[in-house]
Amino acid sequence: MLQNIDRFLEEARRFNASTSEEIEQFRIKYLGKKGLLSDLFKSFKEVPVEQKKEVGQKINQLKQFITEKVEELMSTISDDVAGDNSADLTLPGPPLQLGARHPISIVRNQIIEIFGRLGYTISEGPEIEDDWHVFSALNFPPEHPARDMQDTFFIEKDPDILLRTHTSSVQVRVMEKEQPPIRTISPGRVFRNEAISARAHCIFHQVEGLYIDDNVSFADLKQTLLYFAREMFGKKVEIRLRPSYFPFTEPSAEMDISCQICGGKGCNVCKYTGWLEILGCGMVDPNVLEFNHIDSKKYTGLAFGMGIERVAMLKYQVRDLRLYFENDIRFLKQFQAAY
Ligand code: DAH
Repeated sequence: MLQNIDRFLEEARRFNASTSEEIEQFRIKYLGKKGLLSDLFKSFKEVPVEQKKEVGQKINQLKQFITEKVEELMSTISDDVAGDNSADLTLPGPPLQLGARHPISIVRNQIIEIFGRLGYTISEGPEIEDDWHVFSALNFPPEHPARDMQDTFFIEKDPDILLRTHTSSVQVRVMEKEQPPIRTISPGRVFRNEAISARAHCIFHQVEGLYIDDNVSFADLKQTLLYFAREMFGKKVEIRLRPSYFPFTEPSAEMDISCQICGGKGCNVCKYTGWLEILGCGMVDPNVLEFNHIDSKKYTGLAFGMGIERVAMLKYQVRDLRLYFENDIRFLKQFQAAY
């Protein structure tokens, strides 16, 4: 047996290979399940006790030698790709996976584009705001429920600092800097202390719109929003304005669009009303103009605010808001970016 081992060792020492296939055969011959080493280990049982130590050592030496030899041979050929004719260097590389735009970005860009055609500029403001810009300058009475801890994330050390709950705060930022004519939209992230569900999230996106000039009327508001709805959802869409209340607009309204799924006949998406709510709007309250040093005798304004997730849900018929935040590639790659 000792002689056999020596012979194997000698053979292995002399072995050389130029392809990975040859090395693999060599490895199988010695180290494979039915290989020579496995045979040696099997017949080890019959070795007389006094020889066991020496034979055992030799077998282990052989195993180690083969293992190292295989590694060494592999390392020489893997560097030398040209020698391994299994690699075809003329093949094209694997195709790169193309990413897709997020549906919220697609819809935001489309909203920007539609209002851009009507002459609206884009303005931005900070996400971490103060009470003045989010509430007080927008005519929220001090005890208004929207300031409640339930809805607003306040910064613990200073209750005057908070995460903006709506992009209406950017209206104030714009009025501080500019005098009419003002025509601008403000897309951005907003934050509310809400439990996450299919219909609500603590972080979401809004677009605010503001148009102040002499002679801006409710008719302008209605026509602007009708134009927007038809550009976004299709030429057949009808709109409906319902009276509502917001502290910063007077009169205020909420706008519904005719249900795209049933065409207004009534279905479970529109809860059999034929209408779906999409935004809040109104004529800028004169108090808000005055707070921000705009002459309310001379100027009037219209304003509106919509949730981008909501518009995207209606446009793409997405039933669960959480899908927008999960980054599941199977969801995200379904959206074609025209914008
Ligand atoms: N800020 C309101 C909200 O977050 C939306 C809104 C309603 C904005 C009416 C407006 C408006 O500009 O006129 O629910």
